[in-house]
Amino acid sequence: MGLRVILPVLWLLPLACSTSRSTNREPLVFKKDGHALRQMKLEEIETLQQATTVAVREPHEQRRMTFKSVKLPPLLDIAYGTRWRSADQLLFICLDGYQQPIPVTDIVTKTPYLAYAKTGAQSFSVHDPAKDKDVKLGPYYLVWGKASRPSEELMGAYWPYQVSQIDLIDFASLYPRTLPPQNASASAQRGFKAFSQRCIACHTINGQGGGVSIELNYPVSVVELFKPEWLAKWIRNPRAIRYNTAMPPLPAQDDQQTLEDIVAYLGAMSGAKQAPDGAPHTSQHRRLPPEGKAQRASERRRVGGS
Ligand code: HEC
Repeated sequence: MGLRVILPVLWLLPLACSTSRSTNREPLVFKKDGHALRQMKLEEIETLQQATTVAVREPHEQRRMTFKSVKLPPLLDIAYGTRWRSADQLLFICLDGYQQPIPVTDIVTKTPYLAYAKTGAQSFSVHDPAKDKDVKLGPYYLVWGKASRPSEELMGAYWPYQVSQIDLIDFASLYPRTLPPQNASASAQRGFKAFSQRCIACHTINGQGGGVSIELNYPVSVVELFKPEWLAKWIRNPRAIRYNTAMPPLPAQDDQQTLEDIVAYLGAMSGAKQAPDGAPHTSQHRRLPPEGKAQRASERRRVGGS
């Protein structure tokens, strides 16, 4: 008799906790070129935009999942007015330092949703098979509806989790020190594009980019550190070289040309070194993650789509 009374109460406890957590969620910050324009609490987002349940094939667990979410484009219309639709890129800034730029054309032509809960009472996290660990997805997780998704090779990179800020940026003005030199080869130019989609979320070049991992160009470029064949092997599949590295493999769909282009870009940048802000000019410099990045870089592992 006594047990029957206690058990249902215990079952209710986790539910009560998760509800209070969702109301404590930090507001989503909308920025333009690094400057905060407005922030929205989840309660406000839910009054502005009707919540929908979206079913997706989740790339970490590689299975179908359903999330409570709102469509992203109408929310951006409210935050920025319709001018964002003709802008360059949206930068998704995450609590752990991941900063993924996504071209506005992808946001406009495909079907992105901002997810903020899993349907049912399940915790808002996914299991990362590479780490054998659950990772938190909140405050927001960018997911893509079935109707139209990014190309397969970008499936991993384009699903940023722990999104706390969205910045409407012009890539060339936000990250000018990452641009290849004018005289760079066509391969290096293509490599720059590939790098900006696949690598810059975690790495910096001349101090500009994401804060999950280390600088690749300053003061000593990785093309100077690694023999070319080992650099290519590392980028293709880092775990074949360091079994426990936190860096994901290049998406399996990427061909040899993409790999060579990325190496060509890194080579071109080795001839265009610029000191990151505040970096010492001689000794090795390790960039600190942007503010509020409590989690260690090594705790982050991304799905690479393979
Ligand atoms: C999810 C984050 C992430 C992404 C995306 C990523 N890396 Fe890394 N990378 C790391 C981490 C973390 C390390 C450091 C090794 C470690 O701690 O496991 C690293 C190390 C490296 C190194 C070795 C640097 C050195 O000096 O030892 C190179 C080169 C590199 N990455 C290149 C790339 C390239 C090129 C891409 C894109 C194709 C890329 N990375 C994408 C996280 C990432």
